Amino acid sequence: MTATIDPRDFRRALSQFPTGVTVVTTLDDNGAPIGVTASSFNSVSLDPPLVLWSVDKAAYSAAIFRDAEHFAVNVLSADQIAISNRFASRGEDKFKDIPWTPGLGGCPIFDGLAARFECRTWNVYDGGDHLIVVGQVMSYGYQTELAPLVFARGGYAVSERHPAMAG
Ligand SMILES: Cc1cc2nc3c(=O)[nH]c(=O)nc-3n(C[C@H](O)[C@H](O)[C@H](O)COP(=O)(O)O)c2cc1C
Repeated sequence: MTATIDPRDFRRALSQFPTGVTVVTTLDDNGAPIGVTASSFNSVSLDPPLVLWSVDKAAYSAAIFRDAEHFAVNVLSADQIAISNRFASRGEDKFKDIPWTPGLGGCPIFDGLAARFECRTWNVYDGGDHLIVVGQVMSYGYQTELAPLVFARGGYAVSERHPAMAG
């Protein structure tokens, strides 16, 4: 890390930018489901439809996502904090008792999501201590009646219409 930047303070500054919360999933070489909580998800391109997220090179799942042909972005809804916490820890059986169905390439898709994006891996780029994974969206879905889970200032939040938008 550059001497002039304190990593903890840098994180704090970044946390002033609210994000949604996703669990990105795939299958490993043995066909076992893999998932990681990620707030680094973002849109890239409309034509072709591309999205990105970044995975810590030190994460257990980093090499699996690097080599995966497909991945799915599960955009969590406001009542899915337990799922976010489960996939943010290094667990033996993260998928235990969580209902999911196989999507494109067999990638796990949860119930009750705000949105889902099923992707074919477009490219993987070096991004310092992370890998930047870009995916081409082959299929997607969303439920406007479910509010998305938000992560801001180091904690979970919900999005509300700004009072200035009223009227
Ligand atoms: C709200 C939230 C957002 C996160 N975003 C990311 C992310 O974008 N990329 C990442 O690599 N880890 C992120 N993490 C941390 C991973 O979820 C965590 O390191 C997880 O244990 C990785 O799983 P693995 O070690 O089984 O691969 C986030 C954690 C939380 C709670």
